[in-house]
Parts: sequence; structure tokens; C-alpha cells
Amino acid sequence: MSVLVAYFSRAGQNYGHGGVIDLPKGNTEILAEAIADDLGADLFKIDTVTPYPEDYFATTDVAKRELREHARPAIQGPLPSMDGVDAIVLGYPNWWGTVPMAVKTFLDEIDLSGVTIAPLCTNEGSGLGGSVGDLRRSYPAANVVEGLSVRGTDAKSSTRKAVVWAKKAIA
Ligand SMILES: Cc1cc2nc3c(=O)[nH]c(=O)nc-3n(C[C@H](O)[C@H](O)[C@H](O)COP(=O)(O)O)c2cc1C
Repeated sequence: MSVLVAYFSRAGQNYGHGGVIDLPKGNTEILAEAIADDLGADLFKIDTVTPYPEDYFATTDVAKRELREHARPAIQGPLPSMDGVDAIVLGYPNWWGTVPMAVKTFLDEIDLSGVTIAPLCTNEGSGLGGSVGDLRRSYPAANVVEGLSVRGTDAKSSTRKAVVWAKKAIA
């Protein structure tokens, strides 16, 4: 069983504890790193070529437009090889109820036939939103299993839970 942990995560200004806060490390990144470390899996960070604005509200505007336009923002390569990969633990923040569009750029560009996708979504209250259904509809070649929702502000204290979930999800 070969596993890839791929994730999108945006450090900097974000929303948490009822206001705008500054995150030195993205919430999703904390969990993705913990899972990759425990599983000994390769880790791939989905980074856009054009960074999102530093300002939280400006980013929500860009993200809303990208969602509305079904955008596929360019991402930085090289992409990881999918040779022999059976499962992807896919980490992302809930952006407007689903995955950030850059996650779809990534999934569009790799071969997903027969691959299990385990969705791990951090959020500030909306849970997984529509992300799992969206992934299932958009990527029928993959087997998208039940996802895990973690409140972003609880990321640091949830690494154990995320590792346990990931092991079960890809088993
Ligand atoms: C553009 C944008 C849109 C967001 N939309 C939602 C949302 O619809 N529901 C929600 O619960 N949280 C939303 N959030 C909060 C993030 O999902 C949450 O802070 C997450 O943990 C951020 O993860 P990251 O630090 O790995 O990027 C949004 C944040 C941003 C920046």
C-alpha cells in the first residue's frame, strides 16, 4: 500500500476564534504533516503559481470568484508521480462549502483510476460542507471514502485523531 498525502493550506491571515487571526502555519498543513510523518508517506503541497492575497477578506473574494467560475488556478510543479500510489489522503480547508479550486487543478492533472481518496477538511464550522459529494461527482474514477472534518482552530490538538482516521480510511 503506497500512500500520498496531498494538501492545500494557506498560512497567514485567517478566521478563527470569532475574528481574524494570523496563522504561522496553515491548519491543514499541521494535520497533513502529522499524517505523512506517521504513515511514512510522501507529502505534496498544492501551491498556486499566483499566491492568494495576504488579506483574509481579499482571499475570500478571490476564492468566491474562482468557485463561481469553476476556475482551475495554475499550481506549481513538478507533480508527484502516481506510479504505484493506491491512496491519497487529501487535505484542504473548506472554502465556501467545498474544496479550494486549486485542489481540483491538482486532481485534474493526475491519474486517479482506482485510487482511494480520503478527504480531510479543516473548517471554521461548516464541516466537510459539500466537498465529499463534489469530489465524488467530479472524479468518478477515484474511490472517495468517508471524510474527516476538523475545526481549524483545533488542528494542533487533533493530530492523533487525524492519524487514526487516515489509517482506517485507506485500509
Ligand atoms: C477563502 C476562504 C473561505 C472559507 N470558507 C469557509 C466556509 O465556507 N466554511 C467554514 O467553515 N470555514 C471557511 N473558511 C475557514 C477555513 O476553512 C479554516 O480556517 C481552515 O482551517 C483554514 O485552513 P488552512 O489554514 O489550512 O488554510 C474559509 C477560509 C477562507 C480563507
